[in-house]
Amino acid sequence: MAWALVLVLIGVLSAVFLFCTRRKRQRNEPPLDKGSVPWLGHALEFGKDAAKFLLQMKEKHGDIFTVCVAGRYVTVLLDSNCYDAVLADTQSLSLTHYSQILMDRIFNLQLFNHDPVSERIRVDQYFKGSSLSRLCSSMQNNLQLLMASVNPQNPTEWKKDRLFDFCYSLLFKAGYHTLFSTENNNSAEFTEVYEEFRRFDKILPKLARRSAHRDELKIASSARKRLWELLCPDWFFTGTVAQSWMQTYLQHLKEQGIDRQTQRRAMLLQLWVTQCNAGPAAFWLLGFLLTHAEALKAVKEELCSLQHLPLDKREDTPIFNSALKETLRLRAAALITRDVMQDKMIKLSSGQEYVLRHGDRLCIFPFLSPQMDPQIHYEPEKFKFDRFLNSDGTEKNKFCKEGLLMNYGTMPWGARSSLCPGRHFAVCALKRFVLMILTQFDLELCDCNARMPPVDLNRYGFGVLQPDGDLEIRFKLKKKIHNVKL
Ligand code: HEM
Repeated sequence: MAWALVLVLIGVLSAVFLFCTRRKRQRNEPPLDKGSVPWLGHALEFGKDAAKFLLQMKEKHGDIFTVCVAGRYVTVLLDSNCYDAVLADTQSLSLTHYSQILMDRIFNLQLFNHDPVSERIRVDQYFKGSSLSRLCSSMQNNLQLLMASVNPQNPTEWKKDRLFDFCYSLLFKAGYHTLFSTENNNSAEFTEVYEEFRRFDKILPKLARRSAHRDELKIASSARKRLWELLCPDWFFTGTVAQSWMQTYLQHLKEQGIDRQTQRRAMLLQLWVTQCNAGPAAFWLLGFLLTHAEALKAVKEELCSLQHLPLDKREDTPIFNSALKETLRLRAAALITRDVMQDKMIKLSSGQEYVLRHGDRLCIFPFLSPQMDPQIHYEPEKFKFDRFLNSDGTEKNKFCKEGLLMNYGTMPWGARSSLCPGRHFAVCALKRFVLMILTQFDLELCDCNARMPPVDLNRYGFGVLQPDGDLEIRFKLKKKIHNVKL
């Protein structure tokens, strides 16, 4: 028996050794960095702090390199001027395979017969035009109602809170109400959906990397189970006139013959995709404003000057837009991943050509380039609210690197087939939220010298980052508003 075990062990080790030594860099392939641990390669560094690890690799190898990560070879591309051309080739680079793996790992969801192209057309249609305007005003009303219920007895007395929870809970609940719009609109249940969602969301990056401990797996699994119960498809079909996003989405799943249990799981995926970014983005935006007095003053003056206009006429806000872009430049960090289905030649902006090998994975990380590239942005780690403004106050969208015009100065919304379809809605929700907070409430830091918390390093690759820590705030309804409104 012992001999058999030894033989199996030798077999496994030889296979790992063979795997690690077999791969050689071929002519025209990107620099190869296998790391020092057989098979695992760079998995631990990648999982611990992807931004730091990829920056080190960029400094060592340049804008393209291939690393070994837990038995997979991943080519990382950081030349932002060729992202569009590379992602346009959907024949050689597949989005489906890896996203199916993640859906299964995170949401226990398998959508085999599902057609992502027709779903994408539906989503794009839903979040634009008249439907977008309707969503924006519904979001505004829901935010207003939620804010009125935060401190109903003494709205003009100071109330303390933590900024991250304050922003995430308000935007989540308002967003859930707006997009899911169930007949079962009961505020205790909204709170439960939010709390279960947060328990699940905290562990989500570890589920994706399969690095969650046993206790974390238990928490994630119980939160997921409860959310499946709370997201009951029947509630979303009880006769509202205008179709909510969730009704539209469920209709699509039904047309594809997807069963009820899978529908629930897919709804949780949709809940996460539509709600996981706006709350954290609102936290960073308000946090940066509260800790940068000059920025707060400029944004406040701009938004207050528009107050007398109807909501839909308040679009011209270059200062707010610049502060939001700057926030997302610093904190939006999605990884765009594709599977290489056949050998593919790609050309960098230097003119140098490289071959991506069939069977490898490609990753694009706009957070490192263009967003944090010091050759594109001066002092990239600093929040400068006017970075996206020209000296005449108009929107700045031209950025250069070594004399070359960049296609993008920032890419928080992804690109091509990974471009966020909810981006206009997200901007509108964030603007209305900040407008409401700054014009109707007094909001300040409890400690006026407080600094922004660092980011949670676990979350690189999963959209807008979250803080490791929080900011204590206090807020109250402005007296004037209270007299007029209540
Ligand atoms: C600051 C807020 C947001 C940011 C930075 C953001 C960013 C992104 C990015 C980068 C992706 C592509 C992810 C990938 O393919 O790997 C994405 C996808 C998506 N986003 Fe957003 N998003 C935000 C808010 C929203 C909101 C509020 C909605 C809902 C209305 C939304 C709806 C979606 C959907 C449905 C997808 C999936 C599209 C698909 O699978 O084809 N997003 N988002």
